[in-house]
Amino acid sequence: MSNEHAPVGHERIETSNFLMIVLILLVVSIGGIVEIVPLYFQRSTTEPVPGLKPYTALQLAGRDIYQREGCYNCHSQMIRPFRSETLRYGPFSVAGEFVYDHPFQWGSKRTGPDLARVGGRYSDEWHRIHLINPRDLVPESNMPAYPWLAAATVDPSDMPPRLRTMRTLGVPYSDEEIANAGKEVEGKTEIEAVIAYLQVLGTAVK
Ligand code: HEC
Repeated sequence: MSNEHAPVGHERIETSNFLMIVLILLVVSIGGIVEIVPLYFQRSTTEPVPGLKPYTALQLAGRDIYQREGCYNCHSQMIRPFRSETLRYGPFSVAGEFVYDHPFQWGSKRTGPDLARVGGRYSDEWHRIHLINPRDLVPESNMPAYPWLAAATVDPSDMPPRLRTMRTLGVPYSDEEIANAGKEVEGKTEIEAVIAYLQVLGTAVK
């Protein structure tokens, strides 16, 4: 073509894959840094809400079982700040409720209801029956049954290392709590641990 010319100005970027990719990456990373970095320094996202306590050994054991069984595949733990959500589940979640959660269980998949504030909503006995066979309480439920949780016990020797690991991630467990962690779960079944965990969810915020 006779009117061909060497690209100038913005045209140089538009006609060069290399320049386009490098500059897009640059712009996106600046945008990302500006959005993400301040969160590490903002009190509302890094400090626990008043009244938030680290999980007890039994609750922590339950939390590990919750992850092992993949409960998060169907249950989120994050109430969004919309009226439809707060009417159904209660006050919306705030970051300070999750500072001791490693890893957090927010999720977005909701085959079942959000569990962020399920603590105290049902009795321990309700949960026990529900986990062993959800259909005994909710006939149309498609949640799997977890009968083995009632038979298996928590291994006490597992607990001190788990608490210690959490401490390296910033959860303020004392030496005493770590030393007593095994005793606290002695003879407890896995279902008791999961129920202890479910019953504390979302209770730090009134
Ligand atoms: C295949 C998806 C699925 C999985 C996996 C699952 N659930 Fe559910 N869950 C549901 C559904 C659907 C409901 C609503 C019906 C019912 O209450 O059974 C529900 C309800 C619940 C409720 C009652 C919530 C409320 O507010 O009424 C609790 C508590 C619960 N599940 C805990 C668990 C735990 C703990 C696990 C893992 C051990 C688990 N679920 C795994 C689908 C699932």
